[in-house]
This record gives sequence, C-alpha cells and structure tokens, in this order.
Amino acid sequence: MSARAAKTAKKPLRKTGRPPAARAPVADGQAAGWREALEASRGEGFGWSRAFGHRPVLLDETLEALAVRPGGLYVDATLGGGGHARAILGRLGPGGRLLGLDADGEPLEWARAWGGGDPRLRLERLNFAALGAFLEKSGLGPADGLLADLGLNSRQLGTAGRGFSFALDGPLDMRLDQGGGPTAAEVLGGWGEEALAEAFWRLGEERGARRLARLVAERRAAGPIGGTAELAALAEEALGRRGGRIHPATRMFMALRLAVNREIESLEAFLAGARGCLAAGGRLAVISFHSLEDRLVKVALRDEGSWRLLRRKAVKPSPGEIAANPRARSARLRAAEAV
Ligand SMILES: C[S@@+](CC[C@H](N)C(=O)[O-])C[C@H]1O[C@@H](n2cnc3c(N)ncnc32)[C@H](O)[C@@H]1O
Repeated sequence: MSARAAKTAKKPLRKTGRPPAARAPVADGQAAGWREALEASRGEGFGWSRAFGHRPVLLDETLEALAVRPGGLYVDATLGGGGHARAILGRLGPGGRLLGLDADGEPLEWARAWGGGDPRLRLERLNFAALGAFLEKSGLGPADGLLADLGLNSRQLGTAGRGFSFALDGPLDMRLDQGGGPTAAEVLGGWGEEALAEAFWRLGEERGARRLARLVAERRAAGPIGGTAELAALAEEALGRRGGRIHPATRMFMALRLAVNREIESLEAFLAGARGCLAAGGRLAVISFHSLEDRLVKVALRDEGSWRLLRRKAVKPSPGEIAANPRARSARLRAAEAV
C-alpha cells in the first residue's frame, strides 16, 4: 500500500464500528453454462446478466450520474457481467462509442458473446490503472464518461477454482488476471509475518491481524497451506467463531485479494489519471465496496481544480435493492464532473 493509502486507511476500528462485510459468495456452478443461458434470455431485461451470475448495483443511480449523451465516448473500466456496460450502450446512438475493460479475461469473453457484433463497442483486457496511457496511445481521445465498479464480479467469487471464496474449497490463487503475478499462495508463503499482519490490518481492517499472521507463519513452517478451506479453518482457529454476522475469514480473504492484485495501488493510479481521461464536462462514477477504497475516491474528488461533485455524499443502495441483491449492501457511489 502506498503512503497515501496508508494515510487514508481507517485507523482503529473502534472509532467507526464494523468494517464493511465482503459480498457473500454464490454457490459454485450457479453461474455455469452462460452461453446457453444468454441465448435463452436475450431481450428479457436484465435476465441475461443473471446468466453470467452478476447483477449490476446502483444501476439507475450510475446512469443518472453519467448522464450518457448519445454521441459520446464512454469507458466502463470494469466490465464484469456487463450490466452497466449494456445499459450505457442502450443509451448511445449510432455515433456513440463504449470502451469496455477488464483485467480478467472471462468478462471479455462474455462481452464478446453479448455485444461482440456491436460496432460501437470496443473491448480490451487491461488494468484500469493503465487507462490514461491506453487512451492516449489508441487515439480514442478524451471520454465523456468513465465508470469503475470496483472489486469482484459474482462469477469470480462463485467459482471455486479462482480461490476468492472461503466458502468454496479451491486453490489459493485470487488473481484477477491469471496471466501473471503472484498468487495468494505465494503471498502467504513468501511475505514475512509482519508484512502479513500489516496487510490483514490495513487492507482487511482485521482486529486479529497479528494472531492470524502468527498462525499462518507457524503453519507454513510445516508446509504450504493447502487451499481456501484450510485457510478459512485457520482463521477460525486464530480468531474463534465470534458469533458475528460474518465468517472470521472474511476480512483476511479480502485483504489477501487486495494485496495479490495490488488493487489499492491500481485504484490510486486510476484516480490520479481519471481527470486526464475525460473531456471538460465529462463524468466520473466510482462504485466501491470497501471503506478504504471509498475514502480514496472521496479524497481524490475533493480536488476542486479538477472536479465538481455531483453530490456531497456517497449514494447508497435503497433498502429495496439490498433486499433484492444483498451483495449491494456495502456499495457506495461517488460521482463528479470534470472541470
Ligand atoms: C464489480 S465487477 C463489475 C460489474 C459490472 N459493473 C456489471 O454490471 O456486471 C468488477 C470487475 O472489475 C474487474 N476489475 C477489478 N479490478 C480491475 C482493474 N484494476 N482493472 C480492470 N478490471 C478490474 C474485475 O475483474 C470484475 O470483473
């Protein structure tokens, strides 16, 4: 984590109560067979996005914030299941364009299935930290709107083989981009006990960070930790059941995922470059699910020389949306206009 993120990080948990819970996983296989499901659900509102297994959050609020102009250039920096992207496309006229990015290959494969024939849609496998450089190199020009809906899509979370979920036994991978970079197993095996404790605390806001890191260090001395189920059991052993609403492994898994993918660093780079990606009057919308990320967005948008806030406070999902989609509960949308 950079010095800026560390400064922005929430200090003691006592001050502000519970950190947000990670989104609950879906059962493995729930999102399987998406090609068939896509075919079956064409044209049925957002039924098609259920085929992938992800439901867009704060959709109406995001579209309102982006104020899509039919002839504009828009960037969805986090395609995922394509719920937001498809809604943006639906508001674009024949002259409009949408650039869709994801660091993970599967959302792009999915997007080619639902939108590949649309000449207004361009798809790129790219970390959004590199968006500024990409826009410059590609000559696409500054955008009229830019969306980042941070974190994981439900399909990633619900696929045991990706290793994101403590509820499903799988390998300790956790990489968004499986093409390279260290896995969660390598982080757990290679980082010092102090560094692990720091990550569990700073990124996961885990109060038992030291206890957890100590037990990880003890266990790995006897051999590598086998998989997500073994790691989840270790968290239970270190922290106890607590009787709380969330599993004791929740915060550790979130911290590991953020560390493996350097997600805070990517968000910082994205926020630093976002103004340069937009034309004057263009809109930025960021949805975060983690208080550390939300604070980084809030601080970045305070820069009055670059941004005019659309609303002072973050937009939260309605009780109706949370009831229909419990994963939306910790979502926060912040949006601003480029000045
Ligand atoms: C919450 S999902 C987006 C869901 C999407 N808005 C929808 O309606 O279906 C987040 C997506 O962002 C991708 N992602 C996360 N960090 C990224 C990064 N730094 N660069 C590009 N994509 C990223 C993940 O792979 C995931 O597919």
